[in-house]
Amino acid sequence: MPSGRKGSVPRGSNLLQAAQELGVELESICGGRQTCGKCQVIIESGHFPKHGLTSHPDHLSPPSPLESEYDQEHNLNGRRLACAAEILADVLITVPEESQAHKQIIAKEATQRFIEIDPAIRQVYVEVEPPELGDPRGEWERIALALEKQWSLQELTIDSKLLPDLQSSLRAGDYKVTVTLWQDKEVVRIQPGYSEGSYGVAIDIGSTTVVAHLCDLRTGDVLATQATMNPQVRFGEDLMSRISYINSEPQGFVRMNRMIIKSINELIEKATAKADLTPQDITDVVAVGNTVMHHIFLGINPTQLGVAPFALAIDSPIDLKARDLGLSIHLSGRVHLLPIIAGHVGADNVGVMLAESPQEQDEITLIVDVGTNAEIILGDKNKVYVASSPTGPAFEGAQITHGQRAAPGAIERIRIDPKTLEPRFKVIGYPQWIASGSNGLIPSEVKATGICGSGIIEAIAELFLAGIIDSKGHFLSTSADRSSRVHYDVGEAYYVLVDEQLSSTGSPIVITQEDVRAIQLAKAALYAGTKLLMDHRSITKIDRVILAGAFGTFISPYHAMVLGLIPDCDLDKVNAVGNAAGDGARLALLNKQLRLKAARIARTVEYVETPLATNFQDEFVAALNLPHASDPFPHLDGVLPLPTVEVQKKRKNRIRSKYRSRS
Ligand code: FES
Repeated sequence: MPSGRKGSVPRGSNLLQAAQELGVELESICGGRQTCGKCQVIIESGHFPKHGLTSHPDHLSPPSPLESEYDQEHNLNGRRLACAAEILADVLITVPEESQAHKQIIAKEATQRFIEIDPAIRQVYVEVEPPELGDPRGEWERIALALEKQWSLQELTIDSKLLPDLQSSLRAGDYKVTVTLWQDKEVVRIQPGYSEGSYGVAIDIGSTTVVAHLCDLRTGDVLATQATMNPQVRFGEDLMSRISYINSEPQGFVRMNRMIIKSINELIEKATAKADLTPQDITDVVAVGNTVMHHIFLGINPTQLGVAPFALAIDSPIDLKARDLGLSIHLSGRVHLLPIIAGHVGADNVGVMLAESPQEQDEITLIVDVGTNAEIILGDKNKVYVASSPTGPAFEGAQITHGQRAAPGAIERIRIDPKTLEPRFKVIGYPQWIASGSNGLIPSEVKATGICGSGIIEAIAELFLAGIIDSKGHFLSTSADRSSRVHYDVGEAYYVLVDEQLSSTGSPIVITQEDVRAIQLAKAALYAGTKLLMDHRSITKIDRVILAGAFGTFISPYHAMVLGLIPDCDLDKVNAVGNAAGDGARLALLNKQLRLKAARIARTVEYVETPLATNFQDEFVAALNLPHASDPFPHLDGVLPLPTVEVQKKRKNRIRSKYRSRS
């Protein structure tokens, strides 16, 4: 419940597997490791004639040691972790709202970009000599001759799958045909008579979302954009959880590969239907993705990417037939994958660089793509460095007490009055700001369900700006005297962001000391990675910041800087560019020269291995402070709260003792 799905599963199956088999999507950030607590379910007890069963908590296996540990630390309140509980007899399960996997909000629209149209696919119309007695040449050879004479195309090959229908196409068109060529090398389609229309799809396979742009290859127009959640999310939010699922399940890899191919086929089907086309009209696909998605898409087991030295099966660009991957486009359609840079820096980053071109800029540009792993690109026309930093899934709402992915009901914007400490917030799906005390003034369906990534960034920054937490991220005992929203006790401190009347769960939505810590750790990893690249480039200042990825679109640059997620920079020069990786794939789809350029970019950027850098740890520790322990943030002058009296005292003492030791 509440979906009403029911079915039989083998005794001993765990509830998470059972839910997946029945098509009920449960949150599962840790991939069933019994650590994230997102898969909590309620076990109903009693006889339920409507369902024809008797359910009881004893019909499940007793809690595992890990589950008991989780219960002790977080209080499951009688609920069970679906990934831990094994089914021994009939059970009726209720999935609370916060455990239901939500539909993702996706920044899916393709950005307007200047693209020179020069696709790998083109159509040519030819008139072919009909066969006659005394001329023993084959039909294909006469088409090839016509292409040479009429279009100066030489040494062409034809995809063998076209041969069975070749003669009928020639006759249907009275020996006039439209030939579709790939890279002026191979014939991939033959249509009777004159035909116009050449289409391709650019795909960004993200860990969380998959986006497809259907493009007219002659005009460059985006005819349809379709996006979906990556179905692999159910096996874990982060890439390592998915690799561990592959390693632990005998059919895990095959299942993941089939899922992503099926999902892409569905996207193409929907996108083509929107444009009154069919998947058979698609003759070219360009795909990008992080290294794990790239390998799974290609049918390569990504196990090696889960352990040092993170060996890639291949890092060059790849051209292959769509049918070899199981993609349901035109039978002879092609697929191109952009190259990869390193074990954790994938084709999606090459797509971002193709779209944003930091390697051609005079200004020092920092591009960050925030996800479970943050990818960082920094440089200018002289040199570009890239790195990947393990931020963990906190920015996606995991590890946060009331964290959730961006979905209707999630809090995405937060303001805290610095005087009264009263909050206002905005939830996805409702345009107005909601203040505490607005109960009854807003429709019940817009009650808050949790806090998404952009919301948690604003929340922590606002707590800091309002003086509720200090620059070390600690709740200040004095703030509890200022407002009843702040609870401060030994070992426990939190801020009540949403009262229970405005929460869909009926319980208050809070931000705890642990939540602040989780965000500090994540942002410090990102900042430390950026600092390493700045050191490599021998700079102390950045001219421009680009926030890439769907998540970047929703982040407030101001709050990101207050938090110290990004270094100091003119706020007018901090921009979100949406799905730049997908835009890069689209550029490479519409211009074949850009595929060569992508290969050059991948060869010339320098990859910096963050975990190996000796100063990473020092940078990380310094970056834990809000916004930073020592780096200046002149663009936030007058904005940041003044240090508290205690901190000022400590500073004075430090300066005094320094002075004494020198004298
Ligand atoms: S605790 Fe069950 S999926 Fe994470």
